[in-house]
Amino acid sequence: MSISIELVQYIFDFFQIKEEILSVKAYGKWQLNYTFLITCTNNKRYILQKINTLFNIAWVMKNIDTIHNHLLKKQAEGLWDNGYKILTPIKNEKGENYVEFEDNSWRIYDYIEDTLTQDYVYYSFQAEKVGELIGQFHLCLSDLEGKLYNPLPWFHNTPNYYKNFQEAIKNTKVSKRDYQIEKWIESQKSSIDYFFHLIETKQIQVRTTHNDTKANNILFDKNTWNPVVIIDWDTISNELPLWVDIGDMCRSMCSNTLEEWDDFALVDFREDIFESLMKGYLKKGNDFLTEIEKKHIVFSVWFIIFELSMRFYTDYLDGNKYFIVRYPLQNLEKAKKLYFLWKSFEGKKELLQKIIDKYI
Ligand SMILES: Nc1ncnc2c1ncn2[C@@H]1O[C@H](COP(=O)(O)OP(=O)(O)OP(=O)(O)O)[C@@H](O)[C@H]1O
Ligand SMILES: [Mg+2]
Repeated sequence: MSISIELVQYIFDFFQIKEEILSVKAYGKWQLNYTFLITCTNNKRYILQKINTLFNIAWVMKNIDTIHNHLLKKQAEGLWDNGYKILTPIKNEKGENYVEFEDNSWRIYDYIEDTLTQDYVYYSFQAEKVGELIGQFHLCLSDLEGKLYNPLPWFHNTPNYYKNFQEAIKNTKVSKRDYQIEKWIESQKSSIDYFFHLIETKQIQVRTTHNDTKANNILFDKNTWNPVVIIDWDTISNELPLWVDIGDMCRSMCSNTLEEWDDFALVDFREDIFESLMKGYLKKGNDFLTEIEKKHIVFSVWFIIFELSMRFYTDYLDGNKYFIVRYPLQNLEKAKKLYFLWKSFEGKKELLQKIIDKYI
């Protein structure tokens, strides 16, 4: 996808940005949103994004505004501290923070300077600080009043994902199916029921959650390598329990391999990174997590690894309609990689629980 300078200028005018544009470059991986880096002649930089139509854009942008204002308030109270930054959507004087052009919607963020993203967490010190950042994010959002919009109502509806999986199996010819994965998914069904029973009976409360706490949604200071902000606020809602974020943070950062990796024998769940994430997270989390939330941290990691694997596998059976793939077997490979991550995790579950017990 390319973008014309006229369109960027139109968007700048809409947002009443007066600076002169010097250059526009494609940026990021283009997994969901199309991102561009704009540099102005005075060296000021902005992030421009064409927002994915998967989302209800008006709702997403309203949520982002709410979160932004809430974090500003926390910063003023000294609670969003530690050198943390805030993602800042640009608004015009009418308060509008996105603009529609033809069939697309666009937004601009202030570029957070001197930062970088990584797909992989290499060092324990970084993991500990990431845990602390996510814990602080949860803590700061725990008193957000009122309802956020839910831009993706089907997101993390695991019983529904399971139904989709069953449907997909029925509709797929035998030769395409992978029985090892299927048997495993089916064997886990009772745990889905258990987890959702906890939510339905309100034993585990719903909270404000980011819902995409993977490594490359965190900006790290390029000099110190400390995390300074979690970005990509499109999926934020307050209808899910915290385990979605804790589980996804561990799923994404504890794997010793990247998501795209086909040497399954090497896949390992890194307990040292898990320990650092938990050490950091619980520095904050101990103050607001309920006993039942603490008790289910390990289970939440299991849950997210399992859920995502099931979604990749179902999408593979369905003909790769949801996740963007570069080759037809990519979703199957991602599902299998998570299955092997789960196996490694399963073998370490007691150890992981002992690690958590050290910090709660
Ligand atoms: N405000 C910002 N300041 C600096 N860099 C940013 C900012 N917002 C986004 N980025 C960069 O742009 C990339 C993509 O942004 P974002 O995560 O919001 O979109 P996405 O749809 O998830 O992107 P991708 O498809 O690349 O994963 C980020 O990984 C980060 O490198
Ligand atoms: Mg992202």
